This record gives sequence, C-alpha cells and structure tokens, in this order.
Amino acid sequence: MMRLAEIGATARGGVCRLALTDLDRVARDQFLSWVRELGCEISIDTIGNIVARRPGADPARLPVMTGSHLDTQPTGGKFDGVYGVMAGLEVMRTLNDKGIRTAAPLELVVWTNEEGTRFSPIMMGSGVFTGQLSLDDMLKKQDRDGVSVQSALAAIGYDGKRNPGHPVGAYFEAHIEQGPILENEGISIGVVTGAMGQRWYDIEVIGLESHAGTTPMDSRRDALLAASRLTVRVNEIALEKGGNTRSTVGYMDVHPNSRNSIPGRVHLTVEFRGPEENMLAAMEQELNQACDRYSEPGKLDFSIRRVADIKPQPFFPPLVDVVRNAAQELSYTHMEILSGAGHDAVYMAKAGPAAMIFVPCKDGLSHNELEDAKKEDLEAGTNVLLRSMLCAAEM
Ligand code: GLV
Ligand code: MN
Ligand code: MN
Ligand code: MN
Repeated sequence: MMRLAEIGATARGGVCRLALTDLDRVARDQFLSWVRELGCEISIDTIGNIVARRPGADPARLPVMTGSHLDTQPTGGKFDGVYGVMAGLEVMRTLNDKGIRTAAPLELVVWTNEEGTRFSPIMMGSGVFTGQLSLDDMLKKQDRDGVSVQSALAAIGYDGKRNPGHPVGAYFEAHIEQGPILENEGISIGVVTGAMGQRWYDIEVIGLESHAGTTPMDSRRDALLAASRLTVRVNEIALEKGGNTRSTVGYMDVHPNSRNSIPGRVHLTVEFRGPEENMLAAMEQELNQACDRYSEPGKLDFSIRRVADIKPQPFFPPLVDVVRNAAQELSYTHMEILSGAGHDAVYMAKAGPAAMIFVPCKDGLSHNELEDAKKEDLEAGTNVLLRSMLCAAEM
C-alpha cells in the first residue's frame, strides 16, 4: 500500500490518482507485475477491469473473486480502494506460500473508475461487468475536458479485448469503513449487511452576467446566489428527513468567476444517499421543488440531470454469515454495519452473491489525504478475507 501511495503522492501525505490518468496506468502496471509474479492468468476487459486468476483444482467451479479499485479522489488517501486490492493480493501470496490449491479458482480484480470523480457515474467498471451499466454509454462518457473514457483507456493502454462480465460464485471486498462507527465502538471487523442507495445530479443554473457596480440589487439574475440557496436547501433536506440519509453539494463551477461580474452560470453537483428507496425518491421531489422555488420564474433557469441512480443493496445473507463466522473463528471483535459509501461490491451483489468486510480507519476519516488505518486492523481484515475466500472456494 505504501508503494502504491507513492504513485500520485500529495504534499499532505495523501494520493491523487484519478481514473485512467497516467498515474492510474503506473499503479495498474505495478499491480500487473505483482500478480504476474504469483503466476496468475491475466485478462483485461473492454472497460479496463483487470482480472488476475489463480486456477483451482476443479475447473467446473465458478471463481471466488475479491478486489477493489486503484483510482482515488483528488484529495484521497492511501487506503480507500487500495486496501481491498492489496488484501486480495496478500491472500493469494499466502496461499502460494503455503502451497494451498483451492477447489474453485480465485480471482483478484481491479475495477475501473470506482470513484466517479473524473468520469461519472461511480462504480463504472463493476457496473458494466454486471450489465447494470451499458458498455457503449460508459465508453462515451467524458471528463470536464471532453476526453472520453474510450480514449482515456486507449491512451493508457488498458483498453482490453475481453467482453466484460462472467459468472462469479462469490465476491468479497475488504475496505476501510470510511466512517467512525467501528473506531468508536473499539471493534476490528465490520460485517457489512448492505449499502445505502445513491442518487447523483448535475445541475446547471442559468442567470445573466452583468456589471456588479451598475446592476441594481433588485434586477439581478445572479446564478451563484440561487446556487447558494439551493446548496443550503440540499443540506436541510437530509437533516429534515433524518433516518441516516445524507445530502451533499460537492462541486461548483462559477462562470465567469470574476469579482466584479454577477455570476451568469453555475454548474453544481448534488448527491443524496439513504438506506431506503422511498427516502431517496422523496428527497428528489424536495430537490425539484427547491429548484422551482429558487428559479423565481423568468429570472433563472435550473436544468437538473440525474447522472447516477443506485438502489439500496443488501448483501447475500449466506455470504455475510461466512464473513461473520470467519471473524468469530479468528476471535476478532465484530459487529454488523451498513455502508454509506458506494463500493463495487454493490453492483456485484445485484448480479450474484457478494459481501464486504470493513476495518476501522483513523477518526473515521476518508476522502481525505490524512486517511489512516492501523496495521493490526488491516491484518485482521485480510485474515477474515482469506478465511472467507477459503470457505467459499470449498463450499
Ligand atoms: C465513492 O467513493 C463513494 O462512495 O462516493
Ligand atoms: Mn473505495
Ligand atoms: Mn472512495
Ligand atoms: Mn467508494
């Protein structure tokens, strides 16, 4: 993990390695050299997912898969995503060291663009792999500079040949919790029962650029003012709804962004999360109403585009039991937990059996350069992953 953290290292100790950039290529190349050393068969699909396969004794069995992502947030840390990949690598190394051959083949996957920062939506690679997102649509998605996923994949040499998607017998993903619960409870293993749903929006507010000194206060069409009102309202929506819902404006682009011009156009993002679909639907209704209200008919235009819609997803109870039993047998403290973050395991759970293992992270902090985790906890999570995969590979 520390070796990968050098690739895109930031001055504050974090990592900036956006999906399908040159730094992503370097991290992927490093991953490939590690799995080649283990003797894995490697395949890359047309959305750039990498699968490293360790053959099993029984070729008729479906693979037991694990993995996560190597892309990061712009001010990301050393663990989000990388931990799940490296835990899987450690599992395979351990089995090689011990000369253990599993009945089912094992697969270690690196998913393309989990973070959804450079290209929306999030969890793109697993979404395509499981048929939840269309390959053609995703290849056409563009970043803010107009570069498409397809050309970014080609530019880094990860535009693979394989068609995305094959049957998987069981999928496990280890991840830092990215929140404070396990640390506060003093517990080393989170047995993840499911993940919240998410709805993402791109919103464009159109007003009119005009002179800051000469335009009277009552005749302005200030897009930033309206976007700011909407931002406050978005925050209130989850506060009012409660029930573990979340609402965030994380990005705003102001045009022309000049001190003495009234802002004529703002692009902002809104995202909602919550454990139940009806909560998300109600939040969306509130968002639409707020946009109507702040548009002050005739003065401002709001255009709202939903860019991601991921339903709340329970994990497969028998696999959740496998994780719980593994933690139990290894005498680690453990508790059930719901994920507020998105993970590739969510899409995998829509297509087949999947479960996740969480470990605590320092101060519950993630999507932050200071993200940190204790070695003992990372080791515990990896041991639980090993035991869970062994169990599923012989089941
Ligand atoms: C991705 O990291 C997400 O959960 O937003
Ligand atoms: Mn992650
Ligand atoms: Mn993340
Ligand atoms: Mn995530």
